[in-house]
Amino acid sequence: MIIKKTTGLLFAISILTLHGYGQFGRLSPADSIRRDSINKVTQQDYKNMLAILGITSTRPGPSGNPQASNAANTDESKASPYSTLPDPLLLNNGRKVTDANTWWDKRRPEIVEDFDREVYGRVPKKTPGVNWEVISVTNDSSHHVAAIIKKLAGHVDNSSYPSISVNIDLTLTTPANANRPVPVIMEFGFVFPPGLRAPGPPAGAAEKSWQQQLLEKGWGYAVLVPTSYQADNGAGLTQGIIGLVNKGQPRRPDDWGALRAWAWGASRALDYFKTDKDVDTKRVGIEGLSRYGKATIVAMAYEPRFAIAFVGSSGAGGTKILRRVFGEQVENLASSGEYHWFAGNFIKYAGPLTPNDLPVDAHELVALCAPRPVFISSGSPKVEGQWVDAKGMFLGGVYAGPVYKLLGKKDLGTMEMPPIEIPLMDGDIAFRQHSGGHTTGPNWPYFIELASRYFDRRSK
Ligand code: GCU
Repeated sequence: MIIKKTTGLLFAISILTLHGYGQFGRLSPADSIRRDSINKVTQQDYKNMLAILGITSTRPGPSGNPQASNAANTDESKASPYSTLPDPLLLNNGRKVTDANTWWDKRRPEIVEDFDREVYGRVPKKTPGVNWEVISVTNDSSHHVAAIIKKLAGHVDNSSYPSISVNIDLTLTTPANANRPVPVIMEFGFVFPPGLRAPGPPAGAAEKSWQQQLLEKGWGYAVLVPTSYQADNGAGLTQGIIGLVNKGQPRRPDDWGALRAWAWGASRALDYFKTDKDVDTKRVGIEGLSRYGKATIVAMAYEPRFAIAFVGSSGAGGTKILRRVFGEQVENLASSGEYHWFAGNFIKYAGPLTPNDLPVDAHELVALCAPRPVFISSGSPKVEGQWVDAKGMFLGGVYAGPVYKLLGKKDLGTMEMPPIEIPLMDGDIAFRQHSGGHTTGPNWPYFIELASRYFDRRSK
C-alpha cells in the first residue's frame, strides 16, 4: 500500500504510541517536520474551539497503556457509576413511544438532533456536488477469483472556494463473471506508508482474505479512503470537505466533525454505485475498524441507503456506551488528538459537563440504524486490549433492542455478554467477539452469513 497523505502516517504513529499495535519505523526528518506543524495547527484549532465554548479547562482522559499509573479502568465492578441511560423510546415531552409512526416522525428526529448538535456535528444544508471519474478498469486475480477493479475519483465541486480542492479516492472490485448487479460491501480503508501494515494479522495469513470471501460469494467489495477528503487531525478541519464548505474558516461548535465527513463520502460513493450497472445499490453494506468502525456506525445511522453494517472494534464514539467507565473515555475523545472526529460541542462533556450529561448515548446511535441489520464486532481483550471495551459495545447493541422490536425486528436476544467466539446472530442486531486482535478479520465469515440472510433473498 502507498501513503497518500501524511495523515495516514500520523495515524499509524498515533496507534503505535497509544497502544503499541504493530511495528512501525522511525519518521523521516521531512515527515517529523510535517507532523510537528500539523500538531501545532491542531493545538491552535483546539484552543480556538475551547475559547468559543468558553471552556477554561478539561479533564484529562486515562491512559491506554495498562501499565500506566493513570491506566483506563478495566474493572467491571467500577464500570457503571452512572445508573441511568437515556431511553430511546422516551419523547422529550415525557411520553413513551408505542408505535412506529411516532418513532419515525417524532422520536427519531429528536435523537438525530441531539447527536447532530452535541456529538457528531451537523452536515451543512448544502454540500458541493461530486463528479465521479472512472480512472481505470483492470482485470485482477490477486484474491484468487477473476475480478474487475475500477479505480474512481470523486471530484468535489470547489467553485465556491477554489483554493481548496477535494478528491474522493474509491476503488470498486466486482467478480468478472457476474452477469447482473451484485451486492457490494464497502470498507473505510486505511492507507499505510510502505513497509507499515495495518494492526492485526496480515490479510490472508491463516484465513482467506475478506476480499476473496466476498468474491467467492459472488459479491463485490469497495475501498473508500476517508483521509482523501477529510484529514484525520484537527489541523485539517479548515481543509478537506469540511474546510471547503467553510471556505477555509474554523468550525462553529455544531459543525460536522471528521466522522460525519467520512460518512458523507460514503454516501457519495453510493451515489456513484447508483450509476454503475455492476452494483445492486439495494444491497450495499459498509464496514470499518476502529475509528473507521465509528465512521461505519455513523454512516449507517445517517444514510438509510446502506443495507447492513459491519462495525469493527468501534469503541468509544462508536457503539460503546459512553457512560461506561471502562477503557477509552469521553475525555480521551474530547482531547486535542481526537476532538476533530466530533462536533466542537462534544468537548463540553470533558469539562465542565460529564458523560452523564450527554442527551444521548451510543445505543441510540445503533437505534438510528433500525430496522436494518448491524453486526457489532470485537477482538479478544487478551490480544486486542480493553481500550475498546467489548462489553460496552455489546451493550450499545443490547439497549438499541427496544427500537428494533418496536419496528417488528429482533434484538440481540439476551442482555448477557456471550463467551468469546460465540456469535449472537439470530436477530437483526448481531454481536461476536473473535479471539484475535484489533481487526475485523476472523468475523468476516459470520458477517457474510448474516448479510446472506438479507441479500440472498432479493435481486434488483
Ligand atoms: C485510538 C483511539 C480509538 C480509535 C483507535 C483507532 O486508539 O483512542 O478511539 O478507535 O485509535 O482508530 O485505531
